[in-house]
Amino acid sequence: MIKPFLEALSGHIQTPPPVWFMRQAGRYLPEYRDVRTRAGGFLDLCYSPQLASEVTLQPIRRFGFDAAILFADILIVPHALGQRVWFTEGEGPKLEPIRDRAGLTQLAISRLGPAVAPILETVTRARQQLPARCALIGFAGAPWTVATYVVEGGSSRSFETLRRLTYQDPSFVDGLFEILIEASVEYLSAQIGAGAEAIQLFDTWAGVLPAADLERWCITPTRRIVEQLRRRHPGVPIIGFPRGIGPSLVCYVERTGVAAVSIDSGMPIEWVAREIQPLATVQGNLDPILLQVGGPRMIDEVRRIVDVLGRGPFVFNLGHGILPTTPPEHVAQVLETLRM
Ligand code: CP3
Repeated sequence: MIKPFLEALSGHIQTPPPVWFMRQAGRYLPEYRDVRTRAGGFLDLCYSPQLASEVTLQPIRRFGFDAAILFADILIVPHALGQRVWFTEGEGPKLEPIRDRAGLTQLAISRLGPAVAPILETVTRARQQLPARCALIGFAGAPWTVATYVVEGGSSRSFETLRRLTYQDPSFVDGLFEILIEASVEYLSAQIGAGAEAIQLFDTWAGVLPAADLERWCITPTRRIVEQLRRRHPGVPIIGFPRGIGPSLVCYVERTGVAAVSIDSGMPIEWVAREIQPLATVQGNLDPILLQVGGPRMIDEVRRIVDVLGRGPFVFNLGHGILPTTPPEHVAQVLETLRM
């Protein structure tokens, strides 16, 4: 069975374009809120193969997306390595911050395998239950983005602590990155072994790096993960999402070797079609706020994106994750428009 999403990632133009949405499983769906209540905490949900695979499949059943994304979180990696991580209702993630070399001893690669075993079982279960034309995406956070949470101790506005440490104690940051790179390769490789057919690396906070430091803290670590995964799993495509890096995207694609890039809503799509699409498959970039608002403006924007990017290898997606306040009908309307 041909999977249009995987075809597009291999560089073949698909009409209509395959589609999935970042954060397509989540609080905007009543059936998610149901399961979430039954699970107790968010991490309990992530570590329950039965419930997490159910939640992975919910948006596929409801909307018929071309790809499902494993239900888990980028903070599973530091949690599985031994850092204290917890989610408080309405406040987002919290971590006991690690800010020096001594703190790194809390993170043990040997813990990773046993800790992520339930997540790998989620991958296997979800893959078994997917419709034949739907592909399964595994994922991890890129080292820079995961490091912002590890060091800042949660969501940050300024990223000041980590940014300062890249100048004042780069050997600590290097040490942290070595651990995160090794853990990401092992974790993603295990996801592929369990049934993931493509991988997305979320570098949500790449855009806070000065352009001159992007190579060191975003591009090089990503390239190392891509190279090691490609050696172990040559056929499995990797999608990068270096959010907010603007024209540095050209360097990112050329130097990391990703098969595809996810484009945030800030990128002009004509520029993307000209500069990026000849190098990699492009995924994006409907504004999540416009998806929440809906109406004719949303439909026009969907058509404009497909007009500009649909002539090359393309996967329709959002520029960032679905907002919890999004009416599910708007998602259905976007898919109808694409498949009309
Ligand atoms: O459907 C999917 O996309 C699959 C699952 C998924 C989640 N998080 C579930 C989740 C994925 C791929 C992620 C990635 C993730 N997690 C990122 C990168 C992508 C992005 O959105 O930028 C980041 C930065 C995180 C860290 C994280 N997890 C934050 C900042 C938060 C709190 C904000 C929020 O939306 O609540 C989370 C929690 C989280 N991860 C939820 C979900 C469904 C909500 C938790 C809940 O149900 O209570």
